Amino acid sequence: MKTIFSGIQPSGTLTLGNYLGAMKHFVELQNDNHCYFCIVDEHAITVPQDPLQLRKNIRSLAALYIAAGIDPTKSTLFIQSEVSAHTQLGWIMQCVSYIGELERMTQFKDKSDGKEAVSSALLTYPPLMAADILLYNTDIVPVGEDQKQHLELTRDLAERFNKKYNDIFTIPEVRIPKVGARIMSLTDPTKKMSKSNPNPKSYVSMLDDEKTIMKKVKSAVTDSDGIVKYDKENKPAISNLLSIFSLCSGKSIEELENEFEGKGYGEFKQALGEAVIETLKPIHDRYHEIINSEELDHYLDLGAEKANNVASKTLTKAKRAMGLDRKR
Ligand code: TYM
Repeated sequence: MKTIFSGIQPSGTLTLGNYLGAMKHFVELQNDNHCYFCIVDEHAITVPQDPLQLRKNIRSLAALYIAAGIDPTKSTLFIQSEVSAHTQLGWIMQCVSYIGELERMTQFKDKSDGKEAVSSALLTYPPLMAADILLYNTDIVPVGEDQKQHLELTRDLAERFNKKYNDIFTIPEVRIPKVGARIMSLTDPTKKMSKSNPNPKSYVSMLDDEKTIMKKVKSAVTDSDGIVKYDKENKPAISNLLSIFSLCSGKSIEELENEFEGKGYGEFKQALGEAVIETLKPIHDRYHEIINSEELDHYLDLGAEKANNVASKTLTKAKRAMGLDRKR
């Protein structure tokens, strides 16, 4: 049995990209592993957030995890800011990271590009992410492709700490799905689908209603030759839609290419829209049952308690290794 950790930011309603690239895999992993799934609210505040909206987004994300199939009695589902060891170890990890390596992070460059006021936390975000993972002796971190660089840094920081102080941290492995690791925007297949894109037509939100989903899928950009064929280089838009279709329907890309051979994009998009709706419908139903329930708070309390127990032990070990332990 392996230990799994992953986190999602409550910075807006999750997209189909978050679901297909990450959450769907979390659900598959939880039966045979020891899993921790986190609502990383302290990561979300590295960019400005409206407090009322953030509070709502945190709860909504917790409900979505459960609605998507995370069983909070099997997996530990919790909110990062309710486990103070995260920011405490985050500080320690900052002390072993170098500014140069943080400045090289693509996500930092993208998010700070052209902005005048950039929080220092946007730069020191990866050491906090390393702390999230290392606190739980994590073996495997399932994420989408955009997090790969952060995972490589996590491994470097853990190795650096272990070498300098003591062998405290497990070196985690990244797990990126073969299909769907990078779901692209529906309006521009050169950009990843993102919940922070100001154009809502560029993504399907996990909570979009059926009509909206169909409309967005039908207005997705395609190329002009009208052939349903996977070719990431020359037909990135249709290749992206094929990946989404494959993940939502369980059919392979090849099966889908055969099914739609000689048919136009119109028919393909109608069927794709239906497959996306089918995938999200049970999630919507469960979401609405749980979002305002006391049950949700009960699970989050339970998760915070379980996470605190494990995380505080690792934090104590790390502090002790560094000499932060007057009463040893
Ligand atoms: P976040 O909140 O941006 O995204 C959550 C997860 O969704 C994946 N993802 C995608 N996968 C495929 N296609 C897309 N278009 C797409 N967009 C997002 C992300 O790769 C991620 O797996 N830094 C992290 C949160 C985090 C974390 C952690 C993750 C904080 N601490 C510790 C793992 C372990 C982030 O911003 O993810």
